[in-house]
Amino acid sequence: MATVSSCVLHIILNTFILFIINPSFILGENDELSIVDFDFNSFNGDYTPPSPPPPASPPHPPSLSCEGDLGGNGSFDTICELNSSLNFGKDVYIEGIGSLHILSGVIVSCPMVGCSILVNISGEFVMGVNSSIIAGTVFVEAQNASLSDGSIINVTALAGAPPPQTSGTPSGVQGSGGGHGGRGASCVTDNTKLPEDVWGGDAYSWSSLDEPKSYGSKGGTTSKEEDYGGGGGGRIEFEVESAIEVCGSLVADGGDGGVKGGGGSGGSIYIKAPRM
Ligand SMILES: *[C@@H]1O[C@H](CO)[C@@H](O)[C@H](O)[C@H]1NC(C)=O
Ligand SMILES: *[C@@H]1O[C@H](CO)[C@@H](O)[C@H](O)[C@H]1NC(C)=O
Ligand SMILES: *[C@@H]1O[C@H](CO)[C@@H](O)[C@H](O)[C@H]1NC(C)=O
Ligand SMILES: *[C@@H]1O[C@H](CO)[C@@H](O)[C@H](O)[C@H]1NC(C)=O
Ligand SMILES: *[C@@H]1O[C@H](CO)[C@@H](O)[C@H](O)[C@H]1NC(C)=O
Ligand SMILES: *[C@@H]1O[C@H](CO)[C@@H](O)[C@H](O)[C@H]1NC(C)=O
Repeated sequence: MATVSSCVLHIILNTFILFIINPSFILGENDELSIVDFDFNSFNGDYTPPSPPPPASPPHPPSLSCEGDLGGNGSFDTICELNSSLNFGKDVYIEGIGSLHILSGVIVSCPMVGCSILVNISGEFVMGVNSSIIAGTVFVEAQNASLSDGSIINVTALAGAPPPQTSGTPSGVQGSGGGHGGRGASCVTDNTKLPEDVWGGDAYSWSSLDEPKSYGSKGGTTSKEEDYGGGGGGRIEFEVESAIEVCGSLVADGGDGGVKGGGGSGGSIYIKAPRM
C-alpha cells in the first residue's frame, strides 16, 4: 500500500486559483467568425444584483443496493465491492453503515450536466488504481477516504444550473468567459462601453468563498443560433470523519470554448477532513 509520504496531493483546479478565467479564445488568422466581426450593439448588459442565498437542495433519491442495483459484491452494511463499470442516466444516491470499494480500473459515470453521485457511508470510501468517477457533482461523506494512484474524479464541464441569484453566464454574443468567484473576462475593447457592459459572466460565489460548493458557469457564445460556450466545471465535495488520502486526481475544470465561444469557469472542490 502506498504510504502518505509517497503520495502527491494532485488537484487540478481552475476555480479558486484563477478567479477570473480568461475565455479560451484562440483567434485564428482566417476565422470568419472572429470576435472582432461581431455586432456589439446587440449586446444587453447582464448585471444582476446579489440576492439572498438559495434554499436548501431537494432531497436525494432512495439509496441504491450494492448487488441488485450496482452489480457489486457485498452490501453497503458491510463492504460493497464494485468490479464492473457503471453508466448512469440519472442521479445516484448510496447510503449505508459499511464501506464502498471501487476496484481497480472500474469507471462509475453519469456524464450528463448536473448529474450527481452522492455517497453517504459510515465506513471507508476507496477508489482503486486507475478507477474513475465522472459526473456533475460528486459528494462523498465517509469515515475515511482513499484515492489510489491513477484514480480520478472528473467533473469537468458537467456543471448543472448555477445558484438562483445570478446566471453567472454571459448573455451577449461576444464569446466572453463564464463567471464564478469574479466576473468572467471578455476580449472586447471598446472605449465607448462601460466595463460592466462588456465583461463576461457574473460573479456568484461571493457568498460562499470559505465553503466553495458552486458550479462554474458556461462560457458565452459568438452565435445567436448556436451555443459554443464551454460548460462550467462541476462540484467535488468530501466530508470525511478521520482521514483522506489522495494519490489520484480531482478535476473540476471549465470546458474549453474554442474559436467560437468563451471557456466555462471552473467548478468547486471542497474537502473537509481532520487529516489529509
Ligand atoms: C465477494 O466478496 C467475498 C468477500 O470479500 C469474496 O470471498 C468473494 O470471492 C467475492 N465474490 C466475487 C464474485 O468477487
Ligand atoms: C474483477 O473482475 C476481473 C475480470 O472481470 C477479475 O479478473 C478479477 O479477479 C475481479 N476482481 C475481484 C477483486 O473480484
Ligand atoms: C447520511 O446518512 C445518514 C444515515 O446513515 C442520514 O442521517 C443523513 O441525513 C445522510 N446525509 C445526507 C446528506 O443525506
Ligand atoms: C494504471 O494505468 C497506468 C497508466 O496507464 C498503467 O501503466 C498501469 O499498469 C495501470 N495499473 C493498473 C493496476 O491497472
Ligand atoms: C479507515 O477506517 C477503517 C475503519 O473505519 C480503518 O480500518 C482504515 O485503516 C482506515 N483507513 C485510513 C486510510 O485511515
Ligand atoms: C476530464 O474530463 C474532460 C471532459 O470529458 C476531459 O476533456 C479531460 O481530459 C478529463 N481530464 C482528465 C485528467 O482525464
